Amino acid sequence: MDFRGAHIISVKQFERSDVDEIFRVADAMEPYSQRDRVTNVLDGAILGNMFFEPSTRTRMSFGCAFNLLGGDVRETTDVKSSSISKGESLYDTARVISGYSDVIVMRHPQIGSVSEFAKASRVPVINGGDGSNEHPSQALLDLYTIKKELQSNQRQIDGMHIAMVGDLKHGRTVHSLSQLLLLYKDISFTLISPHELRMPEEIVSELNNAGHKVVETEDMENGLTDNDTVYLTRIQEERFTNKLEADVYRGRFRLNQAIYTRNCQPNTVIMHPLPRDSREDANELDNDLNQHPNLAIFRQTDNGVLVRMALFSLILDVADKVEQASRKVEWYTEGRF
Ligand code: NCD
Repeated sequence: MDFRGAHIISVKQFERSDVDEIFRVADAMEPYSQRDRVTNVLDGAILGNMFFEPSTRTRMSFGCAFNLLGGDVRETTDVKSSSISKGESLYDTARVISGYSDVIVMRHPQIGSVSEFAKASRVPVINGGDGSNEHPSQALLDLYTIKKELQSNQRQIDGMHIAMVGDLKHGRTVHSLSQLLLLYKDISFTLISPHELRMPEEIVSELNNAGHKVVETEDMENGLTDNDTVYLTRIQEERFTNKLEADVYRGRFRLNQAIYTRNCQPNTVIMHPLPRDSREDANELDNDLNQHPNLAIFRQTDNGVLVRMALFSLILDVADKVEQASRKVEWYTEGRF
């Protein structure tokens, strides 16, 4: 695809070569995220970071990525303080904010809202999550992490075994990651969830049609065996009509040190898009795995900055100019990372 000026709404926009391109540019961003070098290639550009749903890492990492490229960030962080609460349409908001920004990231609770918003925007829009539908930048950073983690063990994405665990019905990260994996070959998916929270049927059929192997199960211990990666998710409480309904499923599938050791291969990578629900009745990923070398959750968040820098530099067509506009960091960084 031609990234220049493009909206990023769904992983379905990508060919495999596009993903390779994003990963190649992400690799080149390492010196900037590591604070070895600074670049001001996006000097004068403004990111409109519009989050109409809670977010910490997605919002901050998009903001940091833009800042690390030398651009400025303006944010709206909730519906109450924005004009949407006065009844403003997405169309009007898009026309207004695109007059202030060079690129927009938007998260919104409604499925399809970001795509609708993009139609009215005069600048590129990146989907930061539209309800339970998609979260394309998360899928890219997840896949980038999987690639790096597997590479260190001479394994690769094609042919890998992945278990996805938790609320697969409402989890937009697992929807986007599964659909991004349609571009790869011979993947075995073990989808572990309560029956009522299974992966949407359309996605399961797409995976089958692409030649992948899919097993759906409620038996977590069995499902965990023989995987390269285990990807856990929290119960998406905000998508249920009330908390009590979500409580029914919370805590049903948990990974801790004992369960990992009993069932997983010794080099299984442990992932989670975060936030993990650390409340006692949930705790889908226990703190007793915090020191485990295969716990990749904080490598995922670090990789998120690289991948988002890559998206911005491709969309704004500066990927080849980043280095030229850079210099060595002059402030103290030693031992920071
Ligand atoms: C996820 C999201 O918002 O979909 N978080 C994130 O962006 N890293 C997952 C979640 O909230 O459970």
